[in-house]
Parts: sequence; structure tokens; C-alpha cells
Amino acid sequence: MPLTRKAYRAAILHSIADPAEVGIEASYEYFEDGLLVVDNGQISALGHASELLASLPADIEITHYQDALITPGFIDTHIHLPQTGMVGAYGEQLLDWLNTYTFPCESQFADQAHAEEVAEIFIKELLRNGTTTALVFGSVHPQSVNAFFEAAQKLDLRMIAGKVMMDRNAPDYLTDTAESSYLESKALIERWHGKGRLHYAVTPRFAPTSTPEQLTLAGQLLGEYPDLYMQTHISENLQEVEWVKELFPERKGYLDVYDHYQLLGERSVFAHGVHLCDDECARLAQTGSAVAFCPTSNLFLGSGLFNLPMAEKHKLNVGLGTDVGGGTSFSLLQTLNEAYKVMQLQGARLSPFKSLYLATLGGARALRLEERIGTLQPGTDADFLVLDYNATPLLSYRLKQSKSIAETLFVLMTLGDDRTVAQTYAAGNLVHQR
Ligand code: GUN
Ligand code: ZN
Repeated sequence: MPLTRKAYRAAILHSIADPAEVGIEASYEYFEDGLLVVDNGQISALGHASELLASLPADIEITHYQDALITPGFIDTHIHLPQTGMVGAYGEQLLDWLNTYTFPCESQFADQAHAEEVAEIFIKELLRNGTTTALVFGSVHPQSVNAFFEAAQKLDLRMIAGKVMMDRNAPDYLTDTAESSYLESKALIERWHGKGRLHYAVTPRFAPTSTPEQLTLAGQLLGEYPDLYMQTHISENLQEVEWVKELFPERKGYLDVYDHYQLLGERSVFAHGVHLCDDECARLAQTGSAVAFCPTSNLFLGSGLFNLPMAEKHKLNVGLGTDVGGGTSFSLLQTLNEAYKVMQLQGARLSPFKSLYLATLGGARALRLEERIGTLQPGTDADFLVLDYNATPLLSYRLKQSKSIAETLFVLMTLGDDRTVAQTYAAGNLVHQR
């Protein structure tokens, strides 16, 4: 295959460490006039344009983006494909919201054509918002995952998804059985896991909708294949937490249910965790598990405020999740806008560089993919964005007053949304252009 080499010149910013561990200044690299070189879908060099240009052949194709910032692609560690059609559903909190809006909407995925249509819309929406990797819930129907992976594969995206396992406390039209969920998940793993940049996640919806038999088989699947992911929900809503205690009285608490069925581990991602206690955070950290912080959802569904400082205290891996359709935006910029407010309401801060970390390298670490995505380090996948400083008149005017990259970054996260993402590149290919 002939070498395809391209270079991109712009202001360039990426996270290289967690500000909570190394301090803000050591957590990022910023090149005011930077150059990113891409060879065959991977980043081969990153640096100051003045230094790198001299080392490149004179005829290399260089795309110069003015008034723009190149960052790594965003990573959404929690989102639901089959809830695309019900974002912004009025009036309920979690358990009634599931019964009233979510389950009926997900039932439409029994139809393969519907699944394919929504998968296309969903992936376009991810890319329009600058999300290049997501950890995705399908519906209970295997066709939801087939449709999603087929669409992702066409664009060579790095994506993770799984079919929901749900064998109780849901309408009959939307439940599987312990055995059918095991067999259907296994068939999807055989077909998709490790194919190109695709990975499979074993996906018990949450403890209340799985029998002990189903949770046992979920744990068994994780032991049968290397590097499988596990995704579920935990401690999102106080009524939900009480319900889990009633359903599993023999367990110490919500997390202990998942622990008992061997669902914790380095590739396990638990969505929400709003009402986790100190001991549960410690156990999650000890097992290398991660939590997806989903601020737009937690506010919209009235679930509560995620305690990020407590997670940091335990060195727990945290990524950001949009949780569409409980969340209200596909945009990780808008998600960070709300995350900042969630911290404000708890008397805490969310610095712009911690925010950048959460949306990129922090998400990659939560998914154990930091060797491939989440930064612009040479040798990693060329998944990156071009953010446009002139995306809206207000953003343009506001950024002209900015005195530092910290201020620019914070304003991008406060005023920014899908309009801010001018270009999205995945594996070096332009996959979205506004
Ligand atoms: N808990 C169980 N299922 C769901 C879901 O679909 N969305 C959210 N936000 N929480 C859940
Ligand atoms: Zn969710």
C-alpha cells in the first residue's frame, strides 16, 4: 500500500496527563502554530510548525486551518443508540421515564430497517459533535448492534457496543432470557469483537432488569474472551438504589451485586454513580473499573450531582458520558458545560484542562485505550477535530477577548456545541465537515 502522508497546521492542544495527578501545567501540550503529521491513518509527528516543516519533504500536502484549534477526537463513555428518537422526553425521573418513554422507543429496534436507519443518524450525530469513539448501549435486539457496527465499520471508526441483556422487570416485548442473551451476545462477540477498530461490551442493562442467572452468564462471557468490555448502570437515582436493595437483600449494596457476579474489572464502565458511597468508590478503583460521569442526564432526570472530587480522591478512572436519551445533547462540549455547573453546585471547580482531559485522555483511560486514542501522541490513531473559533458570531467576538489558551478552551466548552466542530477526522479520514 502506498504511503499516504498529510499534514495539518493550526493551533494544537492535547492532554497528556490527569491534572489531578500532575497539576494543570504538566497536564497538556499546546502548540500555538502547530503541525500534526498523519501517515496511513496514524499520527507520525506532532510539534511546532517552525521546527517540523524543515524535516518534511517539500511536496507534502499541508492543510492550514486558521482561527481553529486541533484537539483529539472526543470520547463518549456512555450513550444509548436506540434512544436517539426520544431525547428530551418530558416530566419523569428514571424509573417512570424508562417505562413511559424509553422501553416503547427501544422496541422499534425489533425492525432491522429501523435499526439501520437510526444507526446512520446516530453515527452522523456523533461525528458532527466531534465524538470519534463511544461506548454504546444497543437495544435488547442483536440487530441494533449489527446495524451500529456495520455503519461504524464503513467509516473505520473505533467504537464499542453491546446488546442489552434484560430478562425481568421490563415489558415482555423487550425482554430476552438468561440463555438467549448469552447466546446472542456470544454470536455478536464472534462476529464483531476485535474486527478492525470495533470492540464488544457485555451489556446487562442494570441490576433490576437482570435475574441472578443472567448476571451469572454475563460474568461467564467476560471470562470466555479476552479484552471484552462490560457496561451497565449504577446508583443513578435514589429510588433505583432502594429497589436494588429489595431485589438483592443478600448483597451489601448496589456495587456488591455486580461484584458478586464478577462484573468489575479493567474494562468495566459503570454509568452515573451519583449515589456511590466512599467504600464503593474504593472498590471500583481497586478493581480498575471506571465510571461514566453524565451531567446533562443527571440534571435532566433529576438524578443528582456526581461527586468528582470523591472519585479523584480514590484515583478512580472517570470518563464523560452524554447518556442520550436521558442526556440532552450529543455534544461533549455541552456536556462539559453542564459538568462545570454540577461542580459549582458542590462548591468545587472544573478547570478547562481537567475538562479537556475528561473528554479525551480520561475517557481513553477509562476504556483502556490510551495507547490508541485520546491524545495526539505519535503512534496513535489519527482521530482528531478542528474546532472553529468563528463558529458563531458570539463565539467569535468572545474569543477575540481571550488572553490565554485556558480562557479560549473554557469559552469553547461553555459556548461551544456541534457548530464548533468544523471537521472530524477518524483514522486520518475526513468523516465530517460542517
Ligand atoms: N438505567 C437503566 N436503564 C437506563 C437507561 O436507559 N438510561 C439511564 N439513564 N439509566 C438507566
Ligand atoms: Zn444510560
